[in-house]
Amino acid sequence: MSTTAAASGTFKIGGDLEVTRLGFGAMRIVGEGTWGEPRDRDEVLRVLRRLPELGVDFVDTADSYGPFVSEDLIAEGLSPYGGGTIVATKGGFTRQGPGQWRPVGRPEYLRQCLLMSLRRLRVERIDLWQLHRIDAKIDRAEQFAELKAFQEEGLVRHLGLSEVTVEEIEAAREVFPVATVQNRFNLADRGSEEVLDYCTREGIGFIPWFPLAAGSLAQPGGVADEIAQAHGASTGQVALAWLLARSPVMLPIPGTSSVAHLEENVAAAELTLNEEELARLSAAEA
Ligand SMILES: NC(=O)c1ccc[n+]([C@@H]2O[C@H](COP(=O)([O-])OP(=O)(O)OC[C@H]3O[C@@H](n4cnc5c(N)ncnc54)[C@H](OP(=O)(O)O)[C@@H]3O)[C@@H](O)[C@H]2O)c1
Repeated sequence: MSTTAAASGTFKIGGDLEVTRLGFGAMRIVGEGTWGEPRDRDEVLRVLRRLPELGVDFVDTADSYGPFVSEDLIAEGLSPYGGGTIVATKGGFTRQGPGQWRPVGRPEYLRQCLLMSLRRLRVERIDLWQLHRIDAKIDRAEQFAELKAFQEEGLVRHLGLSEVTVEEIEAAREVFPVATVQNRFNLADRGSEEVLDYCTREGIGFIPWFPLAAGSLAQPGGVADEIAQAHGASTGQVALAWLLARSPVMLPIPGTSSVAHLEENVAAAELTLNEEELARLSAAEA
């Protein structure tokens, strides 16, 4: 029997939507450059169908992954979403090719993103819809007002932001309750520490993307490598265990296109690091 994500504990998004903290990021189930179909479609569907068996019930995606491919595969593999699976998605990016992303925050475009995600994911309401980026070319108040309208119309349950500062979160909170924030954060990149601490204080879910990265700390002789060896674990598992211990609002979403990697990542839920190990990792610079 495989280890499940249960030991990572739970968090209530927006105070009422309970998820197991160790989730899954569905950006990696599409083609190179987050563009087009995956190399091995059958394996990706096996990954998705393994999630409920492993107790992973929080799946993060975006309409722009593929574009559309990730949401379509999630619906094919997981709808009608038994086992309490929660799918969070995002909108607000346009795509021009592999690795190319441009934010568009015009309210009518954001609304199209949401309506098409509802159709692709085969749901009547999105549990967590995140603004992928605030579009600097458009008044942010207009973007926030449209998100608030989504919620008032019952099209989304909770709203989140991505790649934002504390000032931007506070401005959005004047308009609607911010349930989650998704910023890059990992052992090698602590640039969002202030945002994380704010989210921890305010009970806002913090979704760190690129959670497996450990930079030079994962190199032979690096702190993450040493601690991994002491536990017979991988450096990726150490990175996830450190994140989970860092804050009760932390919701890591490691992504993979392989069942073996998924099982390894989920097993990090049961890796407990001691205080000294956590302190060494926190103090280390990648
Ligand atoms: N809000 C944003 O702007 C934003 C930006 C980027 C990502 N995200 C979200 O965050 C999620 C995670 O971020 P991420 O995909 O950049 O980083 P990640 O999950 O930390 O890393 C994924 C990479 O690690 C590999 N990997 C996964 N498990 C592994 C294992 N056990 N052993 C070896 N390699 C492994 C994957 O390749 P394999 O497929 O070969 O396993 C993939 O190349 C995404 O899926 C997406 O949902 C959000």
